[in-house]
Amino acid sequence: MNYQGELTKINLAVDLAGLKLRYPIMNASGVLGISAPLLKKMYNAGAGAVITKSLGPESRLGHPNPTVVEVEGGLLNSMGLPNPGVDYFLSEIKHLKNEGIPIVASFFASTIDDFIKSSIKLEEAGAQALELNLSCPNVGGESGMCASDPVSTEKITKAIKNTTKLPLFVKLSPNVTDIVPIAIAAESGGADAITATNTLKGMSIDIDFKKPILSNIMGGLSGSALKPVSLRFVWEMYENIKIPIIGCGGIFTWRDAIEYFLAGARAIEIGTAIMLNDYKIFHEINEGIARYLSDNDLKDIKEIIGLAHKS
Ligand SMILES: Cc1cc2nc3c(=O)[nH]c(=O)nc-3n(C[C@H](O)[C@H](O)[C@H](O)COP(=O)(O)O)c2cc1C
Repeated sequence: MNYQGELTKINLAVDLAGLKLRYPIMNASGVLGISAPLLKKMYNAGAGAVITKSLGPESRLGHPNPTVVEVEGGLLNSMGLPNPGVDYFLSEIKHLKNEGIPIVASFFASTIDDFIKSSIKLEEAGAQALELNLSCPNVGGESGMCASDPVSTEKITKAIKNTTKLPLFVKLSPNVTDIVPIAIAAESGGADAITATNTLKGMSIDIDFKKPILSNIMGGLSGSALKPVSLRFVWEMYENIKIPIIGCGGIFTWRDAIEYFLAGARAIEIGTAIMLNDYKIFHEINEGIARYLSDNDLKDIKEIIGLAHKS
């Protein structure tokens, strides 16, 4: 990235439990980053590391269309985690690793055994960190429930941590009344960072056809409307856990990004904004953060993490 003049003196690099990010931004899982070439494009556009689509133990078709609808302040999606399965994606991970691109593998399963098997395969393929998707509202069974259940969250996190040396990020759901006990449970289970958050459950109705627009009726809200909700969770977790927090939800501009850092995020993920704009958003946000730091006589992104709690 070619920042000019003063901006070259600003340090935007952060460390997430051993995963070193040259810039503090990653793509959010599942939004466009569904193949090695697309993930590489995001890295070249200024992502510090890239995150795969959530991979399950078997391939999944997901829900029938319509699965995405634009709503006020964002998108509703009910993709239902379509993915080619862990085994299919291992070669894409190897490819990215050979290109020197730090890759975070996002994965989900419905049994602890499958979570463990997948984490072993992803580590062997060359993933540099894992993101445990406990929070998708579109999957039933154990994994769908556990993001709202501290006991399952701790149990699954611990089981995976016992089998992998990789940094483990646990991605949580905003569909809870209190995220703090769940974040504490993930931390007790050995999580190295928490990603907050996945999408917020919602729906939309077509008044002409007089029926829900999404085939699955309910979907997950992402985009600007989600930002105040996820930001609140980052703030609350910062006051209650010690591990790093990765902010995610409605980040479109460098100003949104700065809010997350001030609330306590050490890194951020961008989803819907890539879908509705362009990959150049990574560079624009990196540059905006560097300029903000420079304008405030600061030299390092780490100086603003959690700063709003002190004022
Ligand atoms: C089309 C679409 C697909 C998604 N797929 C996944 C996924 O596979 N795994 C996951 O953890 N989150 C998934 N998400 C959630 C995003 O990673 C992110 O948590 C959420 O969209 C909030 O961020 P945003 O407002 O920047 O989009 C998906 C979101 C969208 C819009």
